Amino acid sequence: MIQLKKGVYWVGVIDWNIRSFHGYVTNRGTTYNAYLIVDDKVALVDTVKNAFFPQMLRRIREIINPEEVDFLVSNHTEPDHSGSIREFMKAAKRTELIASEPGLKELRRYYGEDLKGTTIKEKPEVNLGSRTLQFLPVPMVHWPDSMVTYIPEEKLLLSNDAFGQHLATSKRFDDEVDQAVLMQEAKTYYANIVMHLWRPISKALEALKGVKIDMIAPSHGIIWRNHPEKIVDAYRKWVDGVSEPKVVIVYDTMWGSTERVANALLEGIVTEGVEARLYRLRSANNTEIITDILDAKAVLVGSPTLNNGLFPTVASFLTYMKGLRPQKKFAAVFGSYGWGGGAKREAEAMIRAAGIEVMESDLDFNFRPNERELERARGYGRKIASKVVGK
Ligand code: FEO
Repeated sequence: MIQLKKGVYWVGVIDWNIRSFHGYVTNRGTTYNAYLIVDDKVALVDTVKNAFFPQMLRRIREIINPEEVDFLVSNHTEPDHSGSIREFMKAAKRTELIASEPGLKELRRYYGEDLKGTTIKEKPEVNLGSRTLQFLPVPMVHWPDSMVTYIPEEKLLLSNDAFGQHLATSKRFDDEVDQAVLMQEAKTYYANIVMHLWRPISKALEALKGVKIDMIAPSHGIIWRNHPEKIVDAYRKWVDGVSEPKVVIVYDTMWGSTERVANALLEGIVTEGVEARLYRLRSANNTEIITDILDAKAVLVGSPTLNNGLFPTVASFLTYMKGLRPQKKFAAVFGSYGWGGGAKREAEAMIRAAGIEVMESDLDFNFRPNERELERARGYGRKIASKVVGK
């Protein structure tokens, strides 16, 4: 039995084996956290992915008869949290489902129009006896329905998706795990799930400024009990688009020509003492690349022209980046072609559509770049390095 505070229990599950969370590569698995608050009245906040329902129910039964659960709070409709609502309501017949207004509508779309529930407009808070559950809408952190549940008497924020990490571990608290791994997974989660939602997140962080918090319990990963301000400060930095003097080079290659340009650019950048990271798209995944881009100042994208357009792996990456819209970066495009280009133009259009400034470049080479052309690429790399450090 894991208690966050006296009478507040973790009743979630650990998904050790998930490696793709709708495309997000989750090398360290994840958890679906649900919380049981036992007071004069009893509340369950969030459920778990449907396949894990028996595990969650078993954990609840170790503490209390599920039939004694008065309230089931759904902070967020996405099925990794709401997936067991129907089953739980069968096991806890008198429980009252509470969700935001959009949340209840969405839950009915997923689980049937006959789903009974109360909105937070009708019940903005619930008194459990010695504790209160306050429901605070945080729309678009992560969906329109998203809300957080705050327990003022415990200074405890049940934050759902916000501040989460896809990290499966037998430990539950921040002070029990490797800090570098924890922050890397928090960063990966932010970059891949919510980076494009920086405005609503920023608004939510503003709203939380006056709220006294000494523990944050998200619905994925570990609970921040030791230093909750650590993750809040990291989010502040990420929503502000704070970057490091770092360049990420992303490319794919057919016969090695675009790769030669990528390496020449890298050489030029590092000779200026600036950090650069190189990713060939068939050896790396979008999840890790976009995470590295989150705090990089510049992105260089390379594609050979294939059939008058972008190489498919580069098109896939740019589609992913366009959706996540990294802030306050600049980019440039390079590549190679045979008898008619096309990739560079398409790449530049997609990067602009991602809201990223594109620098002019003359780095699209016919068949194979010669030494003079590679020297031009090295020179361009040095220029990028200067821009990155603000010279
Ligand atoms: Fe963890 Fe948006 O669901």
